[in-house]
Amino acid sequence: MTAFIQLTDTHIVPEGQLAYGRSDTGAALVRAVESLRATLPQLDPVDCVVLTGDLTDHGTAEEYQRLRRILAPLPLPLLAIPGNHDSREAMRAAFADMDWIPASGPIHWHHDFGPFSLIALDTLVEGAPYGMICDRGLQFLDRTLNALGAQPVVVATHHPWILSGIAEMDRNNLRNGDRLCARLAAHPAPARVISGHLHRALSSLVDGILHQVAPAPCHAVHLDQRRQAVNSLTLEPGQATLYNWRGPLGGLVSNTINLEQHPGPWPFYPD
Ligand SMILES: [Fe+2]
Ligand SMILES: [Fe+2]
Repeated sequence: MTAFIQLTDTHIVPEGQLAYGRSDTGAALVRAVESLRATLPQLDPVDCVVLTGDLTDHGTAEEYQRLRRILAPLPLPLLAIPGNHDSREAMRAAFADMDWIPASGPIHWHHDFGPFSLIALDTLVEGAPYGMICDRGLQFLDRTLNALGAQPVVVATHHPWILSGIAEMDRNNLRNGDRLCARLAAHPAPARVISGHLHRALSSLVDGILHQVAPAPCHAVHLDQRRQAVNSLTLEPGQATLYNWRGPLGGLVSNTINLEQHPGPWPFYPD
């Protein structure tokens, strides 16, 4: 079986600091790594971890080095795209040992899992909170989709295109996501978009394409859909998302993994 884990919006800050003055993102990621290491032996084999942006909070070399240090005990290859909190060049330098990272330009890549393909698109507009797929990204997407034929496809972007109802976040979504959707609607096999940025789990099926947004291991964006709501954060339990390929009938099944300590497991009917 084929599987990957999506970890998104880790927002690593320098050692000893808190993100937004409240969120100990380093400690949250340490807990995430410990939890995933404990969980992996119970799972079908997992191929890799995909980081879908906002790896760091300020995009500094120090933050990327800390991220790599914290993730090092995970016994899985890492793949990553940047988010609006990242710096493309600092990220490129921090992942220079990885064969998927391009030597220059946007950080787009393609990973063939066999039964499906993952196309990762860099949506970072340096200095802006919203996301865009650049012309090179759309060309990369076209080329890759053409080469896939009828293989199912998952596209990873940091910024989601679907609307959460959280006004400030929806203003800063994937602004040209319609161009991605048009291409995926023409793809002759199931297509899905997986994203981060909202630090919450939500999904919607639009024109036959599943859009899925993943929760974060640290803070969440507060679910407040009132029009005048102040954009706020909450410290909800950290989560990651597991994707398992279950064959043509099951497709790519997603499972949320809770990363915090919780009671159990115990048998349904203990003696
Ligand atoms: Fe984020
Ligand atoms: Fe973001």
